[in-house]
Amino acid sequence: MSNFSEQPEPSITKISILHEESIILGFHLTEYMIRDIILNIPVSTYVLITDSTLASLYLENLSNQFKKIASKLTLSKGNNSVPPRFISYVIPPGEQSKTRETKSEIEDFLLSQTCTRDTCIIAFGGGVIGDLCGFVAATFMRGVPFVQVPTTLLAMVDASIGGKTAVDTPHGKNLIGAFWQPKRIFIDIIYLETLSERQFTNGMAEVIKTAAIWKESDFVNLENGVASIRDAVLNPKRDVPFQETRTPSQSLLLSVIHSAAEFKAYVVTNDERESGLRGLLNFGHSIGHAIEAIMYEVLLHGECISIGMVKEAELARSLGHLNQVAVGRLIRCLESYGLPISLDDKKVREMVGDRYCSVDKLMDIMKIDKKNIGDKKRIVILSGIGKTLEQKATFVSDSCIRKVLSPAVLVNPVTSSSNLSKHITMTTPGSKSISNRVLVLSALATGTCKLKGLLHSDDTQVMLAALQNLGGAKFEWEDNGETLVVTGGGGNLKVPDKDIYLGNAGTAARFTTTICTLVSAETKTVTKTHTIVTGNARMKQRPIGPLVDALRENGSQIRYLENEGCLPLEIAPLGLHGGVINLSASISSQYVSSILLSAPYANEPVTLSLTGGQVISQPYIDMTISMMNSFGIKVERLDGDVYRIPKGCYKNPSEYIVEADASSATYPLAIAAITGIKCTLPNIGSASLQGDAAFAVKVLKPMGCEVTQTATSTIVQGPPIGSLRPLPQIDMVTMTDAFLTASVLAAVASNKGNGECITRITGVANQRVKECNRIAAMVNELSKFGVTASELPDGIQINGAKIQSLKGPEKGVKCYDDHRIAMSFSVLGCVVPNGTIILEKKCVEKTWPDWWDDLESKLGVKLDGLDIKQQHDSLVKDKTEVSRDRSLIFIGMRGVGKSTLGKIAANLLSFQFIDVDEYFETTLSTTISKFIEKQGWAAFREKEFEIFASILQKYPSGYIIACGGGIVETPSSRDLLKAYIRENGIVVHIVRDIKEIEEYLNRDSTRPAYGESILDVWKRREEWYKECSNYEFFSITADNYATDYDPSCWYTEETNFIRFLKFIIGYETNQVDNNQKDKTFFVSLTYSDLSSASQHIPTITHGVDAIELRVDLLSNNLHSGSFVDYVSKQLAFLRRLSTLPIIFTVRSQGQGGKFPDTQEKEMFFLLLQALKWGCEYVDVEICWSQDLISNLIKNKKNTKLIGSWHDVTGTAKWDGEEIRQRYRTAKEYCDIIKIVCRAESIIDNFKLQGFILSLKTDTKPIITINMGIEGQLSRILNEFLTPVTHPLLPSKAAPGQLSISEIHQALHLIGQLPKKNYYLFGTPISHSMSPTIHNTGFKTLGLPHYYDLFESENVEDVKPILEDSQFGGASVTIPHKLNIMKYLDRLSEHATIIGAVNTIIVETDSNGNRKLVGDNTDWLGMFHLIKPLVKIDSTTSGLIIGAGGTSRAALYALHQLGVSTIYMYNRTQSKISDLVSQFPTYGIIPITSLSQTLTQSPQIIISSIPATSNMEFPDEIFQFGKGVIVEMAYKPRRTNLLKKGEEKGWIGIEGIQILIEQGIHQFEKWTKRKAPRNFIKDNTLEKYNSA
Ligand SMILES: NC(=O)c1ccc[n+]([C@@H]2O[C@H](COP(=O)([O-])OP(=O)(O)OC[C@H]3O[C@@H](n4cnc5c(N)ncnc54)[C@H](O)[C@@H]3O)[C@@H](O)[C@H]2O)c1
Ligand SMILES: [Zn+2]
Repeated sequence: MSNFSEQPEPSITKISILHEESIILGFHLTEYMIRDIILNIPVSTYVLITDSTLASLYLENLSNQFKKIASKLTLSKGNNSVPPRFISYVIPPGEQSKTRETKSEIEDFLLSQTCTRDTCIIAFGGGVIGDLCGFVAATFMRGVPFVQVPTTLLAMVDASIGGKTAVDTPHGKNLIGAFWQPKRIFIDIIYLETLSERQFTNGMAEVIKTAAIWKESDFVNLENGVASIRDAVLNPKRDVPFQETRTPSQSLLLSVIHSAAEFKAYVVTNDERESGLRGLLNFGHSIGHAIEAIMYEVLLHGECISIGMVKEAELARSLGHLNQVAVGRLIRCLESYGLPISLDDKKVREMVGDRYCSVDKLMDIMKIDKKNIGDKKRIVILSGIGKTLEQKATFVSDSCIRKVLSPAVLVNPVTSSSNLSKHITMTTPGSKSISNRVLVLSALATGTCKLKGLLHSDDTQVMLAALQNLGGAKFEWEDNGETLVVTGGGGNLKVPDKDIYLGNAGTAARFTTTICTLVSAETKTVTKTHTIVTGNARMKQRPIGPLVDALRENGSQIRYLENEGCLPLEIAPLGLHGGVINLSASISSQYVSSILLSAPYANEPVTLSLTGGQVISQPYIDMTISMMNSFGIKVERLDGDVYRIPKGCYKNPSEYIVEADASSATYPLAIAAITGIKCTLPNIGSASLQGDAAFAVKVLKPMGCEVTQTATSTIVQGPPIGSLRPLPQIDMVTMTDAFLTASVLAAVASNKGNGECITRITGVANQRVKECNRIAAMVNELSKFGVTASELPDGIQINGAKIQSLKGPEKGVKCYDDHRIAMSFSVLGCVVPNGTIILEKKCVEKTWPDWWDDLESKLGVKLDGLDIKQQHDSLVKDKTEVSRDRSLIFIGMRGVGKSTLGKIAANLLSFQFIDVDEYFETTLSTTISKFIEKQGWAAFREKEFEIFASILQKYPSGYIIACGGGIVETPSSRDLLKAYIRENGIVVHIVRDIKEIEEYLNRDSTRPAYGESILDVWKRREEWYKECSNYEFFSITADNYATDYDPSCWYTEETNFIRFLKFIIGYETNQVDNNQKDKTFFVSLTYSDLSSASQHIPTITHGVDAIELRVDLLSNNLHSGSFVDYVSKQLAFLRRLSTLPIIFTVRSQGQGGKFPDTQEKEMFFLLLQALKWGCEYVDVEICWSQDLISNLIKNKKNTKLIGSWHDVTGTAKWDGEEIRQRYRTAKEYCDIIKIVCRAESIIDNFKLQGFILSLKTDTKPIITINMGIEGQLSRILNEFLTPVTHPLLPSKAAPGQLSISEIHQALHLIGQLPKKNYYLFGTPISHSMSPTIHNTGFKTLGLPHYYDLFESENVEDVKPILEDSQFGGASVTIPHKLNIMKYLDRLSEHATIIGAVNTIIVETDSNGNRKLVGDNTDWLGMFHLIKPLVKIDSTTSGLIIGAGGTSRAALYALHQLGVSTIYMYNRTQSKISDLVSQFPTYGIIPITSLSQTLTQSPQIIISSIPATSNMEFPDEIFQFGKGVIVEMAYKPRRTNLLKKGEEKGWIGIEGIQILIEQGIHQFEKWTKRKAPRNFIKDNTLEKYNSA
C-alpha cells in the first residue's frame, strides 16, 4: 500500500466523533478517499448516489478514479482477487427528492443490481442526498455501511454529521427516518468551488451559529475574514498546482469549517440522542424553523435561521441577558456573508412575495415543539458572543417571544401603579463623530485609555479595524463590550499586510487617509511597499480629492488606483512632511479634521490654512480641536481660517467617556418632562458642541421643567403630568433634529387658564428632506391623536391639547421608516390614555437599536407586541402613505375623456385633480387660443413644458395630472414622462376610437384648431403616446355618457375604469384567491371576433372565475389597422361585458395554438401590451428566450404570470425528469404554473395526481391537465383555474375540454361533490319563487343539489334539518328571522347590524368543524340594483316608507351606498324613534307626513310596506325629478307606488327584481360559484308571470 502514490499525500485533519476518528477534512481528497474506503470498508459493491447537478460535474471522474484505484489495489493484493464493483444512481436535485418514493426507487435499483448486505453506499451530495441515502443504508438489508461525502457547506458542517437520516412526507419535513452513523465523512473543501453563492451563504448561517454559541475566537475569525472566506469559495484560483492549493484564504476557510464540524461532532458525541447540550445547536432554529415552515421553498434553511438568530438574539437582549454590542456584532457578521437579517430585507421581500409570517402563525408553529412546557417555549439564549445563558435551551414565556416578533408595539401610558421610577439615570447611545475621533486619538496616543459609551456601528467598526491593520494600537473589550481598552501605539504605524477596507464609512475614509501618510518608511517590506485604502462600490464614488491634493502638495505620494478623486488609494510610507498645508475646506469639514488629527505627528509643526471661501460645519472642526486638547495637544487658531498645530504625541487619559448623541438624548429627557419624573444623563452636558445638547435648556426649561446642567451631565425634572407649557415661538435652527421631540411635548402643552395653547417651531425647513418629510408627517400623525397641527413655511404649529382628550390612532402611528418619528411618538405614548400603537417599530435601529428594550427596562414603560397585518392593505386609502401617494399622469388625444376619467380617479383615491391646460390658462391669465395666436405654437409648446415640469415638481404626490393632448409633441416633455415611468411613476394613456374623437371634436369650437386632420395628428403622435406611458386604457364612449344621460351605461364605464385603476395601483387586483380551498375555473374564448358574441358572454361565463382571451385565435380580417389595435379593442369590448379577471394568452403553434412560432418578438410585444392594458393574468410559454421572459417579469407589476408548458409531442411523462425540469423553470419565473401533457390512457391521469402529491401543499398555484379524451379525468380533478369550455362557444380550446356543468356532474359521480339539500324556512311560503331561483342555478351549473320548501310555524322544527350532515344552507323568512339565531354558531357583520338572518351558510373552520353562519342578503338586493342607477354624493338623500323588519335592511343598504340623509315615514312614529336610537350615525330624519316639503328632496325611495296597504303617495315625494323607486313588496308586480313613480319619470325597481338579486347573492355565498344570473332571472320571471 505504501508504494501507491502518484500525487503527494494531501494533508488531512481528522475529527473524532463518537470516539472514532471518522471525519476527514482537507483539500483534493478524491484519491485518498477512494483508497481509504476500499481498504477500510471492504465490500463487493460500492454504490455512489448523487443528484443530477453533481453527477454532471463530478461523476465521470469519480467513477474513473474509483475503477483505476480499485484495480490497482486489487492487483497489489494478489492474483485471485476481483476488483470490487462500482455502480452509481442519479436522482433529481432538491428537497422534492427527499421522499419515500425516491427511497423506494433507490431500493428497487439496488435490488435490481443484486446488491446484498455486502454493499457500501456512498452519499455524494448535499444534505438531501445525505439524509436520503443514509436512510436507505439504514434499512436496506437491515442496514449496510455508508459513507458521507458532503458537497455543500451546510452538509459539511451540519447535515453529514450526527447520523440523523430522514425523508419528508406531505405532513412535514424529516418525519420518517432513523439514526444511522456513517462509517466515514469526507469533507473535501474543493467541492465548494462549484457551489452557488446562495448555497454557500446558506451554509455560512450554521457556521456563524456555531461560533456564536460556542467560541468567541472563531467568531472573531469570521468577522475579520469575510473577504478572504468568500473569496476562497467564490473566486477560486483553479490554476494553482496541486501542491500549493492552500492559499491563506483557503486555510482560513478550512479552519472555520473545521471548527464548526468539530463542535457538531463534540456535541453529538456527548449527547447523541439530544437531551441538553445538543439543544444548543438549535440557536436561531426555534424561530427560524417557524419562519421556514411558512417560507418553505422560497427561502433556504440557512436564510430562515439567520433571521431566526437575529430574533432570538433580540429576545435575549430584551430579557436583559445580552447587550446591544453583541446583537450588533451578530447582525453585522450575518449580513457581511450575505445572509438576510430580517423578513423586511428588500431581497427577502422580493423572494417571498405575498407570503406573510404573522406572529400568530409563527407562535402556532412553535407551539408544536415537544420540548415546550405550557405557554413557555425553549429557546437558546445567548449571553454574549460565544456564550449561552445555560448549557441548554432556556424556557421563555410566550409574551416575551411575541413582543420580539411583533412588527408593531403598543406603548402603555404610565400610571401611578406602573413601575416607572421617580428618578432614572441612564446613558444613551454615543455620538458617532466623537466615537470616530476618540478612536483615532487614543490609538495614536501613548498610554492606556478606557473608552466608555462608544457608539457601536458599522462606521466605528471599520475605523477600529483600520487602526488595527496599521498596527497602531492594541484594543481589548471589557464588560461584555461596554468598555474598549485602547493601548496606544504612540503613532508608530506600519504598512498593513492587507488592504484597509472601509465599507461605506465616509468619516473613517477621510480620517484614515491622512493617518496612512504617517506610516514610516522603515516598516516597508519587499511585498508590502504601500498602504492601500479602499471601500465598497458606493464609497468608490464619494469624493476625497481636496484632501489628497493638499497632502500631495505637502509631499505625500498618493495614487488613485481607479477613478481620479476617489478611493481606492495607494499611499506611500514616507511620513507626513508638515509645515504649511493648504486645504480647500468648502466641501467637507472632515478633511480639516483629518489633517488636524494627524498633524502633531508630522516632521515639521503644521500650519493648516483653509482656502476656498466659506468653511462649512465649523462646529465639527471645533469639536476636533477641543478633543485634541483633551489628549494633550493644543491647537492655536490664528487670524482667519489658519490653524497652528505643534509637534507632539497625544497622551491617553485613563478614562474617556464618549459624549452621548445629543439628538438621542432628547428622548429620555422628554419622557421625564412629559411624565413628571427626573432623568439624569451622565454623558452629555453644557460643554457639548452638539446643537441638540441645548434641548434641555432651550426647550424643556421654558416648558416648565427644572433643568440642571454641568459641563458633562444633564438632569431634567418634569412638572406634574399635564402641566407642560406651550412655547409661543421657538427657533430651532441650531437643533433641527430635536424638533420632533419638541413637537410631541407641545401636543400636550396647555396653559393653566383656558385660551389657546399654541407652540410655533420655526427654522426647521431642512426636516422636510430627511428620512421623510418630517414636518408633514408630524402634522399627519399628531392629527390622528386629535391634536391640531399645521405646517409653517419653515416649521410647524401645534395646538396643545388636554392629555385626557388624546386618543391613540386606531391603526397606529405610521413612522415612515424614520427612527425619530418612532421615538418621538413613544414619548407621547407615555401619557396617552389607553395606549398608543406604533407601527414599524424596527425603524429605531438606525440610531438606537435597543430603544424599545431601554424604554421598558430602564424607563419602566410597559410595552406589548402587536401584529398589525393591515399595514400593507390600507396603503391606498390612507392619504398619509408617501410612496403610494405618487401622482398619476393621464395623457392622450384631446377628447378621449382624460378629465372625466381623471376626476373619477381623483375621487376614488381622494387625490386632487389638475388639468395642465387649465393650470396653464390660470397661471398665465390667458386662454391657450389667445396665447398661440399671439406667440405661436412653438412658444406655446415651450411654455407648456415649463408649466408641466413645474407641476410635476410641485405636486409629486396626491394628484391626478391630466395633460393636454399635444404634450408629447415636445421632446423635453416626452423625456419628462419617460423619466417619470422609470422612477416607478404611472402614466396612463387614454385611448379612444379615432373616429369617435373626430366626431366629438368637430362639435367643440372652444379649442384652437389643429390646422390638420385629426387622423394625421393621431398618426404622428401615436408612437409617442405609447413610449411615454406604462398603462393604456381604452375608453369606449365616454363622450356619449357625458351628454346623453344613461346612468347605467355610464356606470359600466366607470366601474370598469375603477377596476383598471385599482388594479394598476395594486389596491384591489380582481384576481382569483389562490388560497381558496374550493375549485376555480376559467373559460377559454375561442372567437375570432368577440363583437358577434356579446349576447352569449353572460351565458358562457356561467360559474367561472376568469376568462381567457385566446389572442392567437382572434383574426383581424374584417378590420383595418394593426393587429395590436384590434386586440386592444377586443379586450376593451370584453371588459364591458364582464368584470371577471382576464387571462391574456397568445398560444404559439408549437404549443398547440395559432400564433406563428417564428414571431417571438411580436408575441412578446403583445404580452407587454397586455401588461399595459392591466390584464390580471398573462400566460407566457416558458420555452421562449429567457431574456424576453425576464423582461416581461420586470414589467409585470400587479399582473400575475402563468408560466405554461405544453407537451405537444406527447412524450413527456408525469413521473419523468422533463416535467420536473419544466415545473421548476415555471416556478422560478412565474406566479402560476401550468403544465399540459397528453394522456394515452387513464393511468396518465393517476400519474399526474402522483406528481401533484409529490409537490408540497404550499407551493405556487399550479394547473395540470392532460389533453385528449383520455385526459378528461385530469380536468375533473384539477383544482386551481381549470380551463373549461361551453356548448355555445364556436370550438373547444383544447381536445378533451369539458364544460363546468360536465365537471360538476363527473365530480358528483365519483364522490367528490356530494348532494346537499337547501331549504326555505318560514310560513306562509307555498308561493315562494326561491326554489325556482336556486334550482335553476344548480341545474345550469350541473350541481347535484336541491332546494326545497320547509314550512313550519315553529322554529324548533328546523333543528333536525340543521343538524343533518346533508344540509347545505337555507333561506329564512318570517317568522324565523330572529329566533333562528339561537341555533347558529356565528352571525355575519351584516346580519348583526341589521338584526335579522335571512341566509344560513354552512362553513368548515380551520379545525375541520362544521359551523352554521347567519347572514343577511336582503340589503344586497337593494344595494346592487340601486347602485348603477344613482350617482351618490354628500347631497343625496333617501326616503324609506315603513319601519318594519325590511326597513332595517333598507336602512343598511342606503347607508352602505353612502347616502347620508335618510328620511323615514311610518304610520306609527314610535317605531322610527327606535330605529333612530339603534342606528344613531345613519342620519335618519323622521317625517310625519309624506306631503311635507323636504330640504333635500329624496332621490331614492324605498317602500317596505305591504302592497295591500292603502297608503297614498302625494306628488311632493317625487320632487327630485328623476329618481329611483324601490318596491319591496312583490305581489302584485306593479304596485300603486311603482305606477305613480314611473308616470313621474322615475325608474322603478320591482320587488321581484330585488328578490332575485338577493337570491343570486345567496346562491353565490352557498356554492362559491358565480351564479348563472341571466338564466335565473329569465326562469324566475317566467314562473312569476304565469303564477
Ligand atoms: N441530518 C441532519 O442532521 C441535517 C441537518 C441539517 C440539514 N439537513 C437536511 O439537509 C437538507 C439540505 O441540504 P443542502 O442545503 O445541502 O441542500 P441540497 O442537498 O438540496 O443541495 C443544494 C443544491 O446544491 C447543489 N449542490 C450540492 N453540492 C454542490 C456542489 N458542490 N456544486 C454545485 N452544486 C451543488 C445540489 O444539487 C442542490 O441543488 C435538508 O433536507 C435538511 O433537512 C439534515
Ligand atoms: Zn440548521
